[in-house]
Amino acid sequence: MKVLAAFGTRPEAIKMCPVITELRRRGCEVRVCLTGQHREMLADVMNAFGVAADMNLEVMRPGQTLFDINREVLSGMDRVLDEEKPDVVLVHGDTTTTFAVALSCYYKRIKVGHVEAGLRTGDVFSPYPEEFNRRAVTIVADLNFAPTEAAKRNLLREGVPEERVFVTGNTEIDALKTTVRADYANPLLDWAKGSRLVLMTAHRRENFGEPFENIFSAVRRAVEETPDVKLIYPVHPNPRVREAAKALEGCDRIKLTDPLGVIDFHNILARCFLALTDSGGIQEDAPALDKPVLVLRRTTERPEGIATGALKLVGTDEAAVYTEFRRLLDDEAEYSRMAFASNPYGDGNAASRVADALLHCVM
Ligand code: UD1
Ligand code: UDP
Repeated sequence: MKVLAAFGTRPEAIKMCPVITELRRRGCEVRVCLTGQHREMLADVMNAFGVAADMNLEVMRPGQTLFDINREVLSGMDRVLDEEKPDVVLVHGDTTTTFAVALSCYYKRIKVGHVEAGLRTGDVFSPYPEEFNRRAVTIVADLNFAPTEAAKRNLLREGVPEERVFVTGNTEIDALKTTVRADYANPLLDWAKGSRLVLMTAHRRENFGEPFENIFSAVRRAVEETPDVKLIYPVHPNPRVREAAKALEGCDRIKLTDPLGVIDFHNILARCFLALTDSGGIQEDAPALDKPVLVLRRTTERPEGIATGALKLVGTDEAAVYTEFRRLLDDEAEYSRMAFASNPYGDGNAASRVADALLHCVM
């Protein structure tokens, strides 16, 4: 069996590399096609996991639109699929790369295996365009690797036959086994020594504009009022995000950095006090590392973390972000409840379950 793993952004790479490594360990032929929707951020992850690309469509352009990504990935995959002739293509999650690769496979009647299938918010514009992408991939996927029972239920409700769904856990948790180290050190941690360190990320397209302004204003006020708090925000390279993040400049307890490499990010997350984020993957990392997360979004496709209490959905309203952030800084009981809630995203052996199901079904 010939597998082609096709992906293009940082989170896809973090969650796909454990699957590639596991399949290869079992002697399966896996070719790796990067769309290059991301560039430096993707290269960092490939290095961290020691996975080399066999081909790279290099589609990234500064300030790219959804049309740009779709057009370039479709045209590149037309050629790659003809040349590689894989038996099955593995895609991950919900990016525009994921959608365009799955659509390409459908056009050429090639089997698709969807890693992290079945996540839903129920609102096709939140997150945008990810909710559309993942729903569309489900239409064409032959094998669905659902991280949780709730994700499986979402798929069954949409009419996916049960024999095509495998509950595996999330491969994000597998990735932490490679990245998090006991002897880790970093000058950023020296800078934060003696303070409570807050790690923040924000990059979602639906948060551009007023939501970002609200979030940054609330966060700045809460940090300025709390002398023992320091905050690190690795700013996404998207020019729209860089511009908005300027609202946090000029405060000596807030550090804006370039995106952190995945080893740095996971290790700093493991040592911080709490996380503020609109990211998907960090909603999985943080509960596994016993860190509370305030989710800076209107919706989440990760209700399991809300149910265990590890995540709190705070939205993007300025007053709500400020109040919930202050609550977590000021209320020890609330903090402990969230920090020690259980991790619902798996035991770190998801890649092995994906490999079991794939090899059983496709060989
Ligand atoms: C993409 C995904 C999103 C995912 C996020 C993870 C889509 C539409 N969005 O959003 O689902 O949560 O990745 O980070 O698929 N850039 C660089 N270097 C890089 C990467 C990006 O300079 O390595 C800049 C470029 O100017 C690029 C811009 O960021 O045009 C936006 O990248 P894009 O992939 O379109 O959107 P993300 O916000 O990264
Ligand atoms: N991450 C990273 N460096 C950063 C910010 C995040 O390595 O500066 C990691 C994070 O730990 C998680 C993944 O990137 O594993 C999440 O990616 P992102 O937030 O870009 O995408 P999403 O999960 O929202 O699609």
